[in-house]
Amino acid sequence: MSTITAQGEKTLVLASGRAHPELAKEIAKELDIELLPTSAYDFANGEIYVRFEESVRGTDAFVIQAHPAPINEWLMEHLIMIDTMKRASAKRITVVAPFYPYARQDKKHRGREPISARLVADLYKTAGADRLISVDLHTAQIQGFFDGPVDHLMAIPLLADYVRTRVDLDNVTVVSPDTGRVRVAEQWAERLGGAPLAFVHKSRDVNVPNQAVAKQVVGQIEGRDCVLIDDMIDTGGTIAGAVKVLKNAGAKDVIIASTHAVFSDPAARRLAESGAREVVVTNTLPIPPEKQFPQLTVLSIAPLIARAIREVFEDGSVTSLFDGRS
Ligand code: R5P
Repeated sequence: MSTITAQGEKTLVLASGRAHPELAKEIAKELDIELLPTSAYDFANGEIYVRFEESVRGTDAFVIQAHPAPINEWLMEHLIMIDTMKRASAKRITVVAPFYPYARQDKKHRGREPISARLVADLYKTAGADRLISVDLHTAQIQGFFDGPVDHLMAIPLLADYVRTRVDLDNVTVVSPDTGRVRVAEQWAERLGGAPLAFVHKSRDVNVPNQAVAKQVVGQIEGRDCVLIDDMIDTGGTIAGAVKVLKNAGAKDVIIASTHAVFSDPAARRLAESGAREVVVTNTLPIPPEKQFPQLTVLSIAPLIARAIREVFEDGSVTSLFDGRS
């Protein structure tokens, strides 16, 4: 894609890592461009090789990669692609990381811990990134970790517009699976016609990863259609536990809505057996056939990312994607 500016002609290129080519292809289609022809493979010892097969000199380059398991491998490939782009003289490099890696380690919960989300931002910067686009960061302050402009896209409009069609708006309650997500739950409530809020109180043993215990629900959910929201579903423990608590407290129905379908085992089984009527996610991460189940609905995030890329390329307003203003 090219555009003429006062400074001359600008060219947009979109390069994709190997983690989720379907999403990259969909975004390219939305932008009406071809993905940059790229060679990438692994050496016998696991080292990754990347080469762009066309010149990128002087371009406005967007480098997209998804970060499913094995996340370290895909992150490394992403960094190598950015380095390749820098050394091939792209004029500006925007990292597109729909699911930001290591977002959950965004602070020291205890002494002698890393802040891995900050480290990832530093790695992107060191590799050569000028800007970053991501979707539903685990916590908004991660924006401040990256030394450059960050466009933080929100999947709420996409998810909520769909969920609106699946619930009785006069009988819906938005439920956050923990106290940390209440602000996001408020945005959901606004989009669902001012629905009331509730949250599940959960506790976690900091020494045991991937294990949170949902305890009780705070708020009125008896006889209500509950929309249970979260930024990500990893093993499904948090969300399945919350469904159980809601059902035990008399919820009529539960729909789960979450942006990032990490779906580490045994998430698919847990979700399928959770008792939730529907599980609505986006395709920021690939969902292989063996992780799909009858109650699953996957909405495409590609149009939103494509619009953001177009706005960045044309020096437009990404904010306008959300509030309709410039
Ligand atoms: C926690 O703060 C996150 O928002 C998710 O609730 C959590 O990471 C999901 O993990 P899992 O599905 O393994 O319980």
